[in-house]
Amino acid sequence: MITTSPRHRRARRVVSLLTTAGLVATAAVALAAPAHAGTTLGQSAAERGRYFGVAIAAGRMNDGTYMGIVDREFDSIVAENEMKMDATEPNRNQFNFSNGDRIVNYALGKGKKVRGHTLAWHAQQPGWMQNMSGQSLRDALLNHVSRVASYYRGKIHSWDVVNEAFADDGRGSRRDSNLQRTGNDWIEAAFRAARSADPGAKLCYNDYNTDGVNAKSTGVYNMVRDFKARGVPIDCVGFQSHLGTTVPSDYQANLQRFADLGVDVQITELDIQQGSNQANAYRQVVQACLAVSRCTGITVWGVRDTDSWRTGANPLLFDGSGNKKAAYAAVLEALNAGGGNGGGNNGGGSSSVDTNAWYVLVNRNSGKALDVYNLSTADGADIVQWSRNNGNQQQWQFVSSGNGSYRLKSRLSSKVLDVYAKSTANGAEVVQWPDNNGANQQWNVSISNGYATLLNRNSGKALEVQGASTADGGNVVQYSAWNGANQQWQLVKVG
Ligand code: G3I
Repeated sequence: MITTSPRHRRARRVVSLLTTAGLVATAAVALAAPAHAGTTLGQSAAERGRYFGVAIAAGRMNDGTYMGIVDREFDSIVAENEMKMDATEPNRNQFNFSNGDRIVNYALGKGKKVRGHTLAWHAQQPGWMQNMSGQSLRDALLNHVSRVASYYRGKIHSWDVVNEAFADDGRGSRRDSNLQRTGNDWIEAAFRAARSADPGAKLCYNDYNTDGVNAKSTGVYNMVRDFKARGVPIDCVGFQSHLGTTVPSDYQANLQRFADLGVDVQITELDIQQGSNQANAYRQVVQACLAVSRCTGITVWGVRDTDSWRTGANPLLFDGSGNKKAAYAAVLEALNAGGGNGGGNNGGGSSSVDTNAWYVLVNRNSGKALDVYNLSTADGADIVQWSRNNGNQQQWQFVSSGNGSYRLKSRLSSKVLDVYAKSTANGAEVVQWPDNNGANQQWNVSISNGYATLLNRNSGKALEVQGASTADGGNVVQYSAWNGANQQWQLVKVG
């Protein structure tokens, strides 16, 4: 539902817009061939430089339907419970890797990657550890981290070194636990021990309810920023993404702010409550990951709905019989639609413009979509950013001007993006206007790392969200190109 933006609206004068002669030279359009469409989640994600993983349970590995899906669809595996502290060190200094090994050896034997979950957690501690405290607990923890990470050295692409160490108190505090009471530095001590034990694994901090920008995620953010500043070895942050029926509107922006700290981000335990929005929500999560170059992969927390820890929520991609759900189709479609920009693994990704398609343009800085304000079909209507809803007012088609540049035609109004009154000034308004193929309506599109910069052919200036706003209704204008995130747009094909 579109509501009124607080931003002041200027009255607009109807002017005729003519092509101007003084064209500004801009970078040539470099449009790659459309990426190949994968037929499985793992294959399609790999084409976007990402992995697509699943949590599996050793106890289900004799189920043919289950393993058939795992074999076919996923290229990364994580043990749902078998590599937790209670499973791997049931008695102090007596390690048991039998169920972990079943999973790891299966995955590696099939050429799949393995995530490690988890070396340190306040929950699922073995009984002997639960009542420990002080230095002896610290020693036992670091011994556990060292022994488990050493045992699996070279086999794990990313370890959840520490899991769920922040509280849900609305203040971004550390969670109280026996581990926390050994001293605030227990997390960094665990990361250092893990780095020594397996220098090749990416070391992640992993948590839930950190999926949007909120007090808890900001607490984690501040810790990661501090770790990076002080050289504590951390490589990635896991966002569990156990979601209700909707995805936080700032999900992508949250991933991006962590990525901007210099760590990879991963979606680590994705499951989404069944309901009319389930497929759409899955799609949004995939699109957000593809829009963040350091989002290296997605893991769903189980195979079929009946395998999920969320009994009755039916939150996964396959039904109890192993059939693909609508959510599965949405995920595969989103992966194949691309917008990928390299990820952390393979590089590459889709960067094509299809003049038959309809795109949503998602701003890299805000995660919001280019939008005709208030569903207007009028000449001169404002172009803003708004939370993405894929409505017609957010869909745009690239219309070739035959000279390597394009107009962007609104699906709602059939009008095109236009720099108002052929202005060449910084901050000049971008509006919609009837298509007259004027230079002020033509944009040179250059795509780098999956993000498009659009330079107006009349002014040479870039399409940007003014002031790097992240708010709904943030104004879209032209401004001198400086490669800011607010001048970069992900092209998401939606039709
Ligand atoms: O296998 C035993 C069974 O023999 C016994 O009768 C039964 C009695 O309750 O328990 C069974 O073990 C359960 C185990 O799952 C396997 O199903 C445990 O009780 C139960 O606590 C355990 O729950 C797991 C939970 O973590 C706690 O460790 C879930 O499977 C697992 O999906 C869940 O995963 C966590 C992530 O590790 C961290 N993030 C949140 C996520 C969901 O809670």
